[in-house]
Amino acid sequence: MGEPHYACTVVVPFTDLGRTHASLSAELLQEFAELLETGAFVNGPAVARFEDAFATYCGAARCVGMSSGLDALRIALIAAGIEPGDEVIVPAMTFVATLEAVTQAGGVPLVADIQDADLNLDPDAAAAAVTDRTRFVLPVHLYGQLADMRRLGSLGVPLIEDACQAPGAVRDGHRAGSVGLAAAFSFYPAKNLGAMGDAGALLTGNDGLADLAFALREHGQRRKYEHDVEGYTARLDTVQAVVLLRKLPLLERWNEERRRIAARYLQALEGVGDLRLPQVPAGSEPVWHLFVLRTADPAGLGASLREHGIQTGRHYPTPVHLTPAYQHLGYVHGAFPVAEALARECLSIPIFPGMQESEIAQVIEAIEGHFDG
Ligand SMILES: Cc1ncc(COP(=O)(O)O)c(C=O)c1O
Repeated sequence: MGEPHYACTVVVPFTDLGRTHASLSAELLQEFAELLETGAFVNGPAVARFEDAFATYCGAARCVGMSSGLDALRIALIAAGIEPGDEVIVPAMTFVATLEAVTQAGGVPLVADIQDADLNLDPDAAAAAVTDRTRFVLPVHLYGQLADMRRLGSLGVPLIEDACQAPGAVRDGHRAGSVGLAAAFSFYPAKNLGAMGDAGALLTGNDGLADLAFALREHGQRRKYEHDVEGYTARLDTVQAVVLLRKLPLLERWNEERRRIAARYLQALEGVGDLRLPQVPAGSEPVWHLFVLRTADPAGLGASLREHGIQTGRHYPTPVHLTPAYQHLGYVHGAFPVAEALARECLSIPIFPGMQESEIAQVIEAIEGHFDG
């Protein structure tokens, strides 16, 4: 997950969930107490309520709560009909779970490079990778910015969105999760919409896919003890649904806060040292899950910031095609130069709802100081 580099004394944390949750704790404790009394820990009423609310928020017809983003992605591929050996095109820069979902669903990840313009799957590279065994294209909305779904859609191969980092992001008038055949979200605690543990969701406009996903997440049963297909234990816990229902109405405000912080960084850090700042193509409204700088020496900049008590992270230091877990795919160094350059140069700086103006200013000052010194 790209662990933050921790300083001895933290002055500006990489993220601060305690701050995000402070205003909610009394309400949540009350709801947990009620849940304890009812004992409806599995498939409690909050699950369906959250599913309806999240589908509406994203502009999708159906939502199936899942136990994690990986489960949502893997079950999306299975419910969409992936067959053993089917190829799925994935970007070279993503969190490793994107590939885990493909191989665990029986598919073969076909890695393609990203593009500098948005750091997402390059539609030209994806087009060049398509073969007659390609079943799906799996774009990742990396760092909270949607991939170019319009151009990727024109490839004529069904799209499954890895929207784990992008709830609420918009591009070309469409919200993350509403464009592809299906989409997966993660509610890992540090995500823009985070649970108090692992949780996820699958969105789709396809009723057949949604019905099968409902069965697959619960031992393949559509009705109790009627097992039409082999399934999993991949349900969204009621306690997580309670948390997510409480937090969903605040997501727009939190995303706006992230946008405000990103705008400050973009304005203040332009032209500083050798920094390359994130680009936002016309028509794109990212939700800034991460704010990723590029510099020739990210370790040096990270060390300087650590001296000022500022935590940073790296997302991700190794592109997926070069991780040991996926060596067997046979890709070599140099295969995907844009992703490899990003992996060498990336440094993520703090961005989170509740971040104070003084903290933003300290981050900016410390970065300027690093390059001035
Ligand atoms: C791009 C991406 N895909 C998939 C996942 C997997 O989500 P989870 O950790 O909830 O399984 C994550 C988050 O960790 C992610 O960032």
